[in-house]
Amino acid sequence: MPLSFKHLTSTKQLLRRDTDAILQTAAEMEKVLLKGGNDLLAGKILASLFYEPSTRTRLSFETAMRRLGGEVISAEGIQFSSLYKGETVEDTMKVVGSYADIITMRHPEQGSADRAASVCPVPFINAGDGPGQHPTQALLDLFTIHKERGTIDGLKIAMAGDLRYGRTVHSLTFLLGLYKNLRFTFISPKELTMPDKVTTFLKEHDIPYEETHALSAGLVSDVLYMTRVQEERFADHSEYERLKDMYRLDAKMLKGKEVTVMHPLPRVGEIATDVDALKTAAYFRQAKNGVPVRMALLAMLLQAI
Ligand code: CP
Repeated sequence: MPLSFKHLTSTKQLLRRDTDAILQTAAEMEKVLLKGGNDLLAGKILASLFYEPSTRTRLSFETAMRRLGGEVISAEGIQFSSLYKGETVEDTMKVVGSYADIITMRHPEQGSADRAASVCPVPFINAGDGPGQHPTQALLDLFTIHKERGTIDGLKIAMAGDLRYGRTVHSLTFLLGLYKNLRFTFISPKELTMPDKVTTFLKEHDIPYEETHALSAGLVSDVLYMTRVQEERFADHSEYERLKDMYRLDAKMLKGKEVTVMHPLPRVGEIATDVDALKTAAYFRQAKNGVPVRMALLAMLLQAI
């Protein structure tokens, strides 16, 4: 069944039938990866436009396209593109959309992805728009939760750290709203609590959540999703310095616990490296899952499967 959308800018667009199809296709793409790839997207070009720093999202998109036999053109950094000369995102899309078959873009401004998609002549995928949305991260998070826990329905999900500016936790919470009997625990300092747009969504959908400052509340969950304090989003740097070391998860705290530890990465101290060796530390597997999930999305949006 085809996806219900041509462009992906927000997890709020996704239907349950979309996530079911993407998760199933991503599992098939894992088998393709075991064979080294295929030629499903031969002759197709992905434009990979990253106007904010990225390691995982950019490289996993580009890997995904190449593993399916496609090609990649790329632009990295506003200062090396004509956005620096004052070109609008809309004009960039009209032009790049005449070169490539599909576009993914990361941009520092919230709302830039919707503006891009509104004029883009080819499928467009939001790879992160400032503090807005990061829908492909949420999809790979969903795939990871399903792989690690064997289900999504009924789980207790804790999210900790910078819940105010962390676009990944916003996108993932909206996406998890498609599943049944979930309970959320939001762990943050009072300055970085989950924004109203997310808590209002949960109230409207009768999904229970609690808010606390205590990281210990996350240790009794099924999933503990840690996040970095987003230095780049703070207007006042002293505020960032005061809050950045609020939480630090280490192996001693996790002793005897079953909780699956996730993090979108990069981490900058909120998970000690001694956690990495634990079976329940899923964050590097999570990053790896970005490739099959993005392969699935590229193939489905290009209607190759
Ligand atoms: N998780 C994530 O978006 O990582 P990058 O910023 O490295 O792409």
